[in-house]
Amino acid sequence: MAKITYITKEGESMVFEATSGSLMELAVKNKVPGIDGDCGGVCSCATCHVHVAPAYYEKLEAPSEIEADMLEFDDNVNEYSRLCCQIPVSDAVDGITVSVAN
Ligand code: FES
Repeated sequence: MAKITYITKEGESMVFEATSGSLMELAVKNKVPGIDGDCGGVCSCATCHVHVAPAYYEKLEAPSEIEADMLEFDDNVNEYSRLCCQIPVSDAVDGITVSVAN
């Protein structure tokens, strides 16, 4: 079971728990504003762009080449940007905080 915190553009904290799926799927299921997941998680829309809390960013696997390419064209990119459809829910991300980027 992993606990995931999403910070909306308005600064609201939304906390959910899950055991499977991706951070995008969990956000869409719970209607986190700003995370739309338009492509269904195949890394082709960037509507799941988040900024990962620095302490957790380093623990994640590096973004794939496709993800890095997608992010290059997105607004609001910073060094902690990720597409959250590419972050699986697992014990490794328990306690993670991500901020909605767009
Ligand atoms: S849901 Fe489309 S890139 Fe993540």
